[in-house]
Amino acid sequence: MEIVAARPAPDPPRHVAIIMDGNGRWALNHALPRAEGHRRGASAVRQTVRACVELGIRYLTLFAFSSENWKRPKGEVQTLMDLLRFYLKSEIEELERNGVRLRVIGDRDGLDRDIQNLILFAEQRTEGNARLNLTIALNYGGRREILAAVEAMIRSAVAGKLDPGCVNEQKFEEGLETHGLPDPDLLIRTSGECRLSNFLLWQCAYSEFVFTQTLWPDFGKAELLSAIEEFHQRERRYGGTRG
Ligand code: FPP
Repeated sequence: MEIVAARPAPDPPRHVAIIMDGNGRWALNHALPRAEGHRRGASAVRQTVRACVELGIRYLTLFAFSSENWKRPKGEVQTLMDLLRFYLKSEIEELERNGVRLRVIGDRDGLDRDIQNLILFAEQRTEGNARLNLTIALNYGGRREILAAVEAMIRSAVAGKLDPGCVNEQKFEEGLETHGLPDPDLLIRTSGECRLSNFLLWQCAYSEFVFTQTLWPDFGKAELLSAIEEFHQRERRYGGTRG
């Protein structure tokens, strides 16, 4: 009998970014208030972070609150902010134990002062960790981020510190909030919606997109593994031809 050696499992994607969608529909399906959907969503965040640590994924970026989410009813915004407060306080110990470095991108000046302080504390407390880089996008908008990077370059040029003839992608990326993070390899959006919703517009230029029907509160290790399996079936050509 011929023995076929098992193929080694391919490396997981280095950077996974997730648009966590469907908390409201999950709550509706279970005849529960939307706030409960968001609470279950926070619990799915915990499961997903654990799964990424276990699978050896190095970067995870989560879209938790967009610069457009302020348009939601006041009570819902309050629920989401309270959940963030709770997450930033309650998860720190586990993040530390698991070697997770937490960073926040987005306009934090627009958040309540106590949340800004919790973010700073969590970032400082975990800055020595390197197993998983967890980035939470809060009050984040991709177009605003790009405009801010453009503005920074114009200011440098006006101050005589940047030759406009030498503008390139690398210089531009220095002005992005994700500076220092690799671009996402895999972008997942849950709940069946197939759009980017102003998330990491520049950074996702060559990401593979996986759209899943799962509502975010039901997302966990199994769904992550299945998205990764789909990712491994893709051929990434970066504009080139078949290799
Ligand atoms: C989208 O579902 C989800 C959000 C706008 C917020 C995501 C927030 C969490 C997962 C919880 C808190 C996060 C952390 C990091 C602790 P939706 O309300 O738009 O769902 P719907 O489209 O079904 O209404």
